[in-house]
Amino acid sequence: MARIIDGKALAAGIREQIKTEAAVLPRQPGLAVILAGEDPASQLYVRNKVKDCEECGFFSRRFDLSADASEEVLLGILNKLNADSRIDGILVQLPIPKQMDEKRIIETISPEKDVDAFHPLNVGRMVRGDSPVWPCTPAGISEMLKAYHIPVDGKICVMVGRSNIVGKPMGLRLLRDHGTVIYCHRHTPDLQAMTRQADILIVAAGCKGLIRGSMVKEGAAVIDVAMNRDPETGKFTGDVVFDEVEPKASFITPVPGGVGPMTRAMLMKNTLTLAKLHMGLLEK
Ligand code: GUN
Repeated sequence: MARIIDGKALAAGIREQIKTEAAVLPRQPGLAVILAGEDPASQLYVRNKVKDCEECGFFSRRFDLSADASEEVLLGILNKLNADSRIDGILVQLPIPKQMDEKRIIETISPEKDVDAFHPLNVGRMVRGDSPVWPCTPAGISEMLKAYHIPVDGKICVMVGRSNIVGKPMGLRLLRDHGTVIYCHRHTPDLQAMTRQADILIVAAGCKGLIRGSMVKEGAAVIDVAMNRDPETGKFTGDVVFDEVEPKASFITPVPGGVGPMTRAMLMKNTLTLAKLHMGLLEK
């Protein structure tokens, strides 16, 4: 029987804490969110981000561009936001329309306002282990492990998925925290042989039903990052077969209500951290 990790409750507590900290700052932390295109999931995510800003007492600006907007328009907005002293964090919701060059856009965001830590300079800082902010999903998972007293130091950590947003930075974070990290992906020859070694198994493959009970070691902590939407029911499921894995695991995250709310909370935390850095209240 596993303990269910309640990401929703944990995130609510973190937002409360952030609100308290933000209230005593010399000015409001500010976040700008840019959405290009009409993807319904992205629209929902962006709406939630703006709502979270209101709840935490942050200043926020939202920019909506059409799916056929030019890259120049987006770059122009980013340059203005880079120079705007009310804005501490800038987030361009991914994915972006195909006529835009994702690398160019990420590299145009000032590294000091890069709330996602996607800029190559911040990726370098993460490799070194000393970035002030980390991408929101890995940061949220790390907070979850800490809150539930799940140690990383000396443990075998298996990361299934190698995206720039989740898998790669998650592995770097676990490495920073003295875990032994194994990355798995589509080309891994025997996935089960790897996942069965995991003390901490983190899955972000976007492949419903990928992780069966037989693939998990007794007592492992299992973190399911995926949000796979069933086209018929509209319900979300993860990559982990919950009913098979839960009896073997020591800890497990539900989908929804696990990693998702923590990702949202970490965007607020990262914005607060960047705001404090800009106000000279934290050491670099
Ligand atoms: N799209 C999906 N996840 C993310 C994220 O963490 N940041 C941004 N900018 N876009 C995303």
